[in-house]
Amino acid sequence: MKADVVLGLQWGDEGKGKIVDVLSSQYQAVARYHGGSNAGHTLEFDGQKIVLSVLPSGIVKKEIHNVIGSGVVLDVMTLRHELEVLESSGYRVSDWQNLSISKKAHLILPTHRLLDRLAEERLGERKIGSTQKGIAPAYADKVLRKGIRVADVLQPNFEVRCRKLMEEHRNQLPQTMAKEIDLEAYYQEFMESIRVLQKFPLIDTELVLNDILNKGGSILAEGAQATLLDLDHGSYPFVTSSNALSGGACVGLGIAPHKIGDVYGVFKAYCTRVGNGPFPTEMEGESAALLRTVGNEFGAVTKRSRRTGWLDLPTLKYAIMLNGVTKLIITKVDVLSAMETIQLCTHYLVEGKRVDHASTLVESDAIVPVFKEFKSWGDVGSAREESQLPTALIDYIAFLEEALMVPIAYISVGPDRAQMVKRACFDHF
Ligand code: GDP
Ligand code: IMO
Ligand code: MG
Repeated sequence: MKADVVLGLQWGDEGKGKIVDVLSSQYQAVARYHGGSNAGHTLEFDGQKIVLSVLPSGIVKKEIHNVIGSGVVLDVMTLRHELEVLESSGYRVSDWQNLSISKKAHLILPTHRLLDRLAEERLGERKIGSTQKGIAPAYADKVLRKGIRVADVLQPNFEVRCRKLMEEHRNQLPQTMAKEIDLEAYYQEFMESIRVLQKFPLIDTELVLNDILNKGGSILAEGAQATLLDLDHGSYPFVTSSNALSGGACVGLGIAPHKIGDVYGVFKAYCTRVGNGPFPTEMEGESAALLRTVGNEFGAVTKRSRRTGWLDLPTLKYAIMLNGVTKLIITKVDVLSAMETIQLCTHYLVEGKRVDHASTLVESDAIVPVFKEFKSWGDVGSAREESQLPTALIDYIAFLEEALMVPIAYISVGPDRAQMVKRACFDHF
């Protein structure tokens, strides 16, 4: 059996959490492979809404083994908070013991967040728009080989090392900022969260995951952020600090490439981006505001307004290529019902020349997106089968499949777990 991957093909918030929740029952394990508390993955079912930042999206199902892989940078304070919220809603993760954490995952210290804030302040107008969760500074320490890992929690010098690194971070802050900080209070809160972490198996998760595969089980690898925010292939420097691509799942979980099965590429029927950086099909004015309101395009973590734009085929083709997407999943088609007509960017003109496949976008690119107009399709939120979808939407899907040359396996028609249409041709899968 194989490890399938769910990942985003745009700039994040495509609905990966919902998709993992829908698909997870088919798998023995759900494993997060990179990123950290910059993610916000939303699950909706039975009238409940759950937002997960660090926990894998299979966590609400007792029988599923959830793994935080070695590629993740783990904020234990967010972990603790998320567990408390879940437990108060009846998801007793500590009792269920359906979570294990890689010994090799790096820890985010409270001072990493301060360094993140400082870096953004120093950039001024050129800021990335980071979530300021300490992601980049934690990965930087990992690369500098001075990061503190989950395994270190078990070592006698753990406390000394944490204090030393936190002091080193404080010394990088300007005097005014450093003075405001009560390092001891941060430290105490961090250590309380470490005690929560220790309730769970801190193990070599790559052994567990490979064991599941070797015994004929299957795994769903959960991506965070998305392809166009990938550290190597996204719109650098307006990217996150890890590899969101399917290849990142191999590294971040310790799974060999030939064990990867389906790669599910999730994309919204339009585009959004939080933070700065190039966005060729960005909309402005009333239509942008309408899409933001109807689509509830406000950050799951930071509550920031998301920038909105039309669906962009050149970047989608690029993302499909980078990830080797085998099946597409389109989300939020219901949101486009609010628009009078629907635009789709089929290609760009760059210096008068047609460009069908985008590569890495840079800000200085003088891109002119070329749009094709589609008819709107009315309300689709109650559709559960392909036969219940309006012809205008079916035509739109057929156009996308032909252009992208990858089948669309699922159409998400609303935020709820049940609001999903599986394409008829995939019924036997
Ligand atoms: P993720 O980061 O990719 O998991 O996505 P987020 O959870 O940050 O953002 C997606 C938002 O859209 C969440 O509020 C979801 O509940 C919601 N959502 C997911 N799929 C659909 C859909 O098909 N239609 C609508 N209207 N909302 C959706
Ligand atoms: P999910 O998993 C959307 C964006 C930030 C910023 C850039 C760098 O919910 O899709 P960072 O905090 O990583 O230093 O921020 O990346 N970003 C996201 N945008 N969804 C996310 O995660 C994101 N995680 C980071 O807005 O532009
Ligand atoms: Mg999100």
